[in-house]
Amino acid sequence: MKYTRPPKINAYPKQREFIDEKSRYVIVEATTKAGKSVGMLIWLLEQALKGSEGENFWWIAPVSSQAKIMFRRLKRFIKTKPFISTNESELFIKLGNGAVIWFKSADKPDSLYGDDVYAAVLDEFTRMKEDAWFAIRSTVTATKGKVRFIGNVKGVNNWGYKLARMAEKGREDWKYYKITAQDAIDANVLTEAEIQDARDVLPHDVFLELYFAIPNQSKSDKFCFSFEKKRHVGQTNEMAGYYYLSFDFNYNPICCSIFQHDHQVIQCLETIKLPNSDIYKLCDVILNKYPNKPFIVNGDYSGIAKLGIVQDNVNYYQIIQSKLGLRDTAIQIVPNPSLAENQVLVNGILEHKTVILDEHKAQDLIYDCENVSMSNEKKIIKTDRSDPTQQADALDTFRYFLNTNFSGWQGQQLRAA
Ligand SMILES: Nc1ncnc2c1ncn2[C@@H]1O[C@H](COP(=O)(O)OP(=O)(O)OP(=O)(O)O)[C@@H](O)[C@H]1O
Ligand SMILES: [Mg+2]
Repeated sequence: MKYTRPPKINAYPKQREFIDEKSRYVIVEATTKAGKSVGMLIWLLEQALKGSEGENFWWIAPVSSQAKIMFRRLKRFIKTKPFISTNESELFIKLGNGAVIWFKSADKPDSLYGDDVYAAVLDEFTRMKEDAWFAIRSTVTATKGKVRFIGNVKGVNNWGYKLARMAEKGREDWKYYKITAQDAIDANVLTEAEIQDARDVLPHDVFLELYFAIPNQSKSDKFCFSFEKKRHVGQTNEMAGYYYLSFDFNYNPICCSIFQHDHQVIQCLETIKLPNSDIYKLCDVILNKYPNKPFIVNGDYSGIAKLGIVQDNVNYYQIIQSKLGLRDTAIQIVPNPSLAENQVLVNGILEHKTVILDEHKAQDLIYDCENVSMSNEKKIIKTDRSDPTQQADALDTFRYFLNTNFSGWQGQQLRAA
């Protein structure tokens, strides 16, 4: 079978180095968009090209959609070269020599046991469960197969970080590589401008992890890890322009925050929480406090599906619209993004824009910014609603407001990373 390595790989010395590494286990910690995945895809293909009938080669991604992306990339790449068949539903590519490259997801580690594997790549390994690695380890036992780990740095309290430190310290059969944004810039894979843009919009700690593989050791488990009372709490002054009402429709309490912004300065004028109440009364309170103001409404996306009061058969937003006398265009709701993505947005805004939460009237939001925690599984901890740190209603209104009005700000590309 005729194969030549793409010339662009040879033009990127750091990438070529880790592809050519002979050790059985190799860990590459690298900046985002550094060419990790492409590099290791080439490695896996080259391993499989040396294989023979019935031998398995695995590409493992945290979730199946990511595995599929790599399957398509490889398929595109080898379309002019001899391979026997591809299978879109099972995600495998069979080469002319009979070797098979499979693209799998790590989300159910138990399903990874059982096969004999000759070489495996764990892409984004710092986002996988450790059980996935244990399963892979068992599949390469009989074959003495090689394993490659590639990913970003994600904090220090995870198995991937510990394994990387072990490899870095030095251990037989293990090799460690680190690629920073500067290496990728030198190879013309990233530009200075992109890095600067990321620096300007991301929370600093997230930026260092993503672009320089410097782990964030100090990051607490707080959702708003960039919140500082000194900087973000103060006196607010109503501005001309819209009043943004952001709703969270809990059964109890029902909650709304009132924001204003001029793109650079964001103020939370007030957070209103009404215990044992309903959306009608909440609208009355808002009208009373803010008469004749131009309102824009956002809030929990699921409010579209929820009925305010069962008998009326109208959803929360329809009730708000009619109570406040608003036009259709004043109702602006967007689907809730993933919490991890949302956390980057909230903290990026806290760091790079001027955010003032009213020292008297936004106490509930201030409390949430100081206290609400994220679990390891990237969920806001909300198991005990009698515990005020676990209600997070006011924080939810802040997130919804930012999602609707600032989600484009960090750019599609950054959020994808
Ligand atoms: N040797 C190379 N020369 C030029 N461009 C390259 C090279 N290797 C990769 N690229 C390009 O750089 C971009 C990022 O590559 P890749 O997806 O492999 O990076 P990554 O480090 O896995 O990124 P992510 O953080 O998204 O996982 C892609 O557009 C890819 O085509
Ligand atoms: Mg990648």
